[in-house]
Amino acid sequence: MKKLTLSAIALSITLASAAHAAPEVIKFSHVVAENTPKGQMALHFRDLVAERIGDKYEVEVYPNSQLFGDGKEMEALLLGDVQFIAPSLSKFSKYTKKLQVFDLPFLFEDMEAVDRFQQSDAGQSLLQSVKGKGMIGLGYLHNGLKQLSASEPLRVPSDASGKKFRIMSSDVLAAQFDAVDAVPLKKPFSEVFTLLQTRAIDGQENTWSNIYSKKFFEVQPYITASNHGVLDYMVTTSAEFWTQLPDADREVLKKALDESVAYGNQIAQQKADDDRQKIIDSGRSQILTLTDKERGEWVEAMQPVWQQFEDEIGADLIQAAVQANQ
Ligand code: LMR
Repeated sequence: MKKLTLSAIALSITLASAAHAAPEVIKFSHVVAENTPKGQMALHFRDLVAERIGDKYEVEVYPNSQLFGDGKEMEALLLGDVQFIAPSLSKFSKYTKKLQVFDLPFLFEDMEAVDRFQQSDAGQSLLQSVKGKGMIGLGYLHNGLKQLSASEPLRVPSDASGKKFRIMSSDVLAAQFDAVDAVPLKKPFSEVFTLLQTRAIDGQENTWSNIYSKKFFEVQPYITASNHGVLDYMVTTSAEFWTQLPDADREVLKKALDESVAYGNQIAQQKADDDRQKIIDSGRSQILTLTDKERGEWVEAMQPVWQQFEDEIGADLIQAAVQANQ
């Protein structure tokens, strides 16, 4: 009798502690501001998880390179220090050369073409390109097309000659600036504002939402509306974390993630338009619109980069991306 009472007590303690077990923390780390497509997507994901499976999981979002910056966030993912990241597609070259296709200058005519390519079989297969490296690509997230900002007006390629530009960690982007005789410097996103402010560098390339939210426009008097490349993301998790999840939980998390990515993609264009307008309204930076002839000169100068990386990327993949423009 006494024995039975003791085990009944033990059982009720176990049940009570299970009921109050703290949810497992899932960390989502990224480098941009909250008021960006990626920042908003991550917060949306956090809220959906809280709503749908909050008794078991809690998403903590760390924006602004608060937890890990460029260069460290992928290692942190592989070490299990974070469970989700969404680096720009330009930052994966240590793990796969295939994603470099997205960096080819003047490849996509607009974001609709980027989207068509990402949703095509070729684009979807690229999500698997980091699989053997312990990471799983769960989806593409848009930011938008890149613009060139600088301390002096850039209208034609020779205006960039000899100038220092910060780039993401991509050899294609380095080649793109080499092609116009500029000096590319691979630097983490968190350092860009200070590099520009102190004039350690002359310019950089980024999207309207990053130029606005990180205040680059306050220290760059000229922005050339070049739309010369794309800055999008791959929402990535670690294979170790993802595969050990119970199937039912993984399904709920994946659905919440898919919906959050769709939400981020839906607001990206509007954000780009709004942030561009806010920059114009600030009067701090002049936006330069290229004539067809001027734009043609940039296209021509940067075109050889495609050939340079054709072997690493694959001619078929480049062709599939080109076809998405139609
Ligand atoms: C950059 O480094 O410029 C971007 O990749 C930042 C980001 O994540 O949008």
